[in-house]
Amino acid sequence: MFQLIYISTAQNILPNDLDSILSISRRNNGRDGITGMLLFNGKRFLQALEGEEAPVMAAYKRIKCDHRHRASAILSSKAVDDRQFGNWAMASQRATRDTNDRSLIEAVDALVADVSDPNIRALFSSYVRMAVAA
Ligand SMILES: Cc1cc2nc3c(=O)[nH]c(=O)nc-3n(C[C@H](O)[C@H](O)[C@H](O)COP(=O)(O)O)c2cc1C
Repeated sequence: MFQLIYISTAQNILPNDLDSILSISRRNNGRDGITGMLLFNGKRFLQALEGEEAPVMAAYKRIKCDHRHRASAILSSKAVDDRQFGNWAMASQRATRDTNDRSLIEAVDALVADVSDPNIRALFSSYVRMAVAA
């Protein structure tokens, strides 16, 4: 099992874009045996993709070229024993003006609670705390 985590900066994001990104992701990732999680704070994306190495790299190659974000940087790419991000074709959370900060933090902490690598868990937990502070 292979896992890749990257961060990127949104650009030209329209209100409906996140919904269409998620529905395409769930369709393609379901087909390709990819699971993961996408966080969006209105400025930056943090995404984990996991599955067999070839489909994960193929998905990342497609995602990287997407004009709705730029400056994608890989934070971690490595073999993992098991899926760390449950069985979600793509779990997601977004911070919006309507989102109560505490409920967002709690939602993300719950989503990553089963991630066995403490560094990866800390990455997502600290990202969401930074995101709500921004
Ligand atoms: C931040 C971000 C995350 C994305 N995540 C995924 C993903 O997990 N899986 C996926 O297939 N496409 C994802 N996409 C969309 C891809 O860039 C691309 O539009 C899509 O894979 C094309 O699918 P299609 O060839 O079936 O039309 C993402 C795009 C962005 C901007």
